[in-house]
Amino acid sequence: MTLSIDFTNMIGPGVAESEWTGAGARFRRAHAAVAAARTRPGAALGWIDLPNDRALLEQTTRFAQRARGRFDDVVVLGIGGSALGPIALRTALRPSGWNSLTAEARGGMPRLQVLDNVDPETIAALLSRLALDRTLFIVTSKSGGTAETMAQFLIVRGRLVEALGEAKAREHVVFVTDPARGSLRPIAAAEGIAALDIPPNVGGRFSVLTPVGMLPAALIGVDVGALLAGAADMATRCESDDLSRNPAGTFAMLQWLADTRSGKHIHVLMPYSDPMRDFAAWFVQLWAESLGKVQPGGSSSVGPTPIAALGATDQHSQVQLFMEGPADKTVTFVAVAERATDLAIPRAYAEVPELAYLGGHTLGELIDIEQRATAGALARRGRPNMTITLDRVDPWHVGALIQLLETATAYAGDLYGIDAFNQPGVELGKQFAYAQLGRTDADPKAKQEWDSLPKADSRWKV
Ligand code: PA5
Repeated sequence: MTLSIDFTNMIGPGVAESEWTGAGARFRRAHAAVAAARTRPGAALGWIDLPNDRALLEQTTRFAQRARGRFDDVVVLGIGGSALGPIALRTALRPSGWNSLTAEARGGMPRLQVLDNVDPETIAALLSRLALDRTLFIVTSKSGGTAETMAQFLIVRGRLVEALGEAKAREHVVFVTDPARGSLRPIAAAEGIAALDIPPNVGGRFSVLTPVGMLPAALIGVDVGALLAGAADMATRCESDDLSRNPAGTFAMLQWLADTRSGKHIHVLMPYSDPMRDFAAWFVQLWAESLGKVQPGGSSSVGPTPIAALGATDQHSQVQLFMEGPADKTVTFVAVAERATDLAIPRAYAEVPELAYLGGHTLGELIDIEQRATAGALARRGRPNMTITLDRVDPWHVGALIQLLETATAYAGDLYGIDAFNQPGVELGKQFAYAQLGRTDADPKAKQEWDSLPKADSRWKV
C-alpha cells in the first residue's frame, strides 16, 4: 500500500530547482517548530496523535456496535469542520449513491445525511421524509455553541419530543463535543444524552479522525481501524525532518514556495475520481481557514486561495482558466491507480472517427489517460502541477491522505508565520449576527459597530 507524490511538473514553473535544493534547511525549522508546539500547553496539535488513540476509537466503535440495526437514517447536525469530514468519508468510502440504495444493498447499514447549513428548505424537506423512530441525530460541535448547529438541534429536539416523547427522544440523539467545555456537555449530563469526545487539543477542521468523522463513518460500515492505520503510516513518514522523505513537508514547501516566490497564489486540488469529489471540499476548508490570516503584529495578510475541481468534469469548465488564465495557480491532481470497478467501452461505429477510437478501452483507462494528458498539457504551457497517487480509494489511503494534508497545513502555518489553528476572521460576522438575534452575551461593542455601519444608499442600488 502506498501513496506517492510526483512533483516533476512543479519544478521550474512553480519552484525553481535551486530554490527546491535549498529548501531543506527551512523545512527542518518548520518541522522542529511543529514538534515543539506539540508539547506546548494549549496547543491545538492533538490531531497528530489521533491515529494511535485507541481509547477514542473505542468510544466510536462501542457506540456504533450498540446502534447497529436500530436506525435507517443517521443525520449529522454540524457545520464547517464538523460536517465536511463526514461528507468526504461517506462519498469516498461507501458505494456511489449510498443514500439511494436499498437497505439490502447497504447491508442493513443506515443512510447518512449531513445537514451543514440552515436553509429551511433543505431541513424541512429532510425532516418530512425521515421516520424519526428509526433515525439517529449526531449533534457535532466542538464549541457547543455554533448558532447554525444549535438552531438545528433545537428544531430536531422539538420534533423528536413531539413524535416520541421526552424519554424516547434522548435515545435518538448523540452529542460529539469537547469533553468538558461548551453548552452540550451540561445538557448531556442533565438529560442523559450520550456524548462522545473531541479532544480539547483538536480543532474543528482537524477533527475528522475523532468521533466527528469516525462515528458517522463507523455507523455506515466504514472500516475506521483501517482509516487510522493509513493515517498512522503517514504520521510515521512525517516524523522525518528530511524534506525528500516527508510527503507533507514536500506538499507544504512546494505550495508555499510557489505562492510566495512565484506568485502562484491559488491552489487547486483536482481528484480524477468521483469518490474523492467531496474530499476536495474538505481540503479547501482546511487550507483556507488555517492559512488565510493576518501575520502577528498585523503586518500583512497571507494565505493561498484553495479551489476544488474534479476531473474529468472540470476539463470542460475550469481547466480553460488553469491553462490560459492568469499564471497564478498550482494544480494538485489526485490520481487512483486501481479503481474499484471498471467498464469496457464497446466497439461500434468503426466508420465514425469520433467514436471508433474509444472502443476497446475502458472508462478507467479514459479517466486516467485524461488526467495524465491534462497534467502534461498544463506542464507544456508552463503551468505547475503535481500528482498524488493513491493505490486505491479505500480507508487506508484516505486516512493517509488526511494525515498528509493536515500535517502539511501545520508546516505551512509555520512557513507563512501564522497560527494555523485559529480563525479570528470569522468572529466579527458572528458577533454582528448575535447582535441582530439578541444574544444576551454578545459583545456590546459589536452591536455598536453594527449599528454604525453605513445604511444602504439608494444611489448604489439598481
Ligand atoms: O475548523 C473550525 O474550527 C471551524 O470550521 C468549525 O469546525 C466550525 O466553525 C464549527 O464549529 P463547532 O464545531 O464549534 O460547532
